[in-house]
Amino acid sequence: MSAEIVDGRAVSAAVRERIKKAAEGMDVKPGLAVVIVGDDPASHVYVRNKKRGCEEVGFRSWVYELPENIREEELLSLIDKLNAESDVHGILVQLPLPDHINEETVTERIAPEKDVDAFSSYNAGRLFKGEPGLIPCTPHGIMVMLEHYGISVRGKRCVVVGRSNIVGKPVAQLLLAADGTVTVCHSKTKDLASVTRDADILVCAVGKANFITADMVKPGAVVIDVGMNRNEEGKLCGDVDFAHVANTASYITPVPGGVGPMTISMLLENTLLAAGNIMKNEQR
Ligand code: GUN
Repeated sequence: MSAEIVDGRAVSAAVRERIKKAAEGMDVKPGLAVVIVGDDPASHVYVRNKKRGCEEVGFRSWVYELPENIREEELLSLIDKLNAESDVHGILVQLPLPDHINEETVTERIAPEKDVDAFSSYNAGRLFKGEPGLIPCTPHGIMVMLEHYGISVRGKRCVVVGRSNIVGKPVAQLLLAADGTVTVCHSKTKDLASVTRDADILVCAVGKANFITADMVKPGAVVIDVGMNRNEEGKLCGDVDFAHVANTASYITPVPGGVGPMTISMLLENTLLAAGNIMKNEQR
């Protein structure tokens, strides 16, 4: 193996230490409300980790567990209540939601200044225009990791595989804002390997194990793996064939222990930022 392993756990720990210190210096404790609907076990694990993250950095947190059959209007009125609650600086509704609830309606209902997932059109629009705002957690975490390792984006050929609203599109915007030359690939891209082979920085977020093989990676490229899959043996793995790509890349994120740990840290970062902004506005 020649690539340096990008240690998301270590970067995440450094970020959380900084957030904890910043929170200690604030007049009011930042507070995050997390809403979960139904009993999907994976979603409950994510929510538990978010609550634990809050405890680690000294934030307040509230978890609202709602039954699978809750009506959309009831969920919306809980969001209205949390929007108006002054102790709550961040609101997150865990996705996916049951089929009878419209995710778009729900995410748009969260007040933009408390939208710590940054899934709303308001924050997506701010990101698109390069204006300050809340930034989606996983893409933001990727940028913080690159910066931590001193990997400059300026002038680099960046290829993003995957065009989701949560990862692919926002990470492309962030790479562009950092002066990268960005290409976004997706399931209809012709001759994908010829595009990925051109990448100095390759970000993959497609959700398919071993999707990126060594022949698709330029020697010396930085490879960021956002995938969270289970292989045939049930082991957690990313989208990248790690064992082989690690011989070609200069830097590579492992799964687990790469991008994953950064996501909750950036959620905490957004909650801290939201709390600071809300308090500043209240003083006006
Ligand atoms: N489900 C899986 N990832 C996420 C996330 O980052 N935010 C929310 N709200 N739901 C998710």
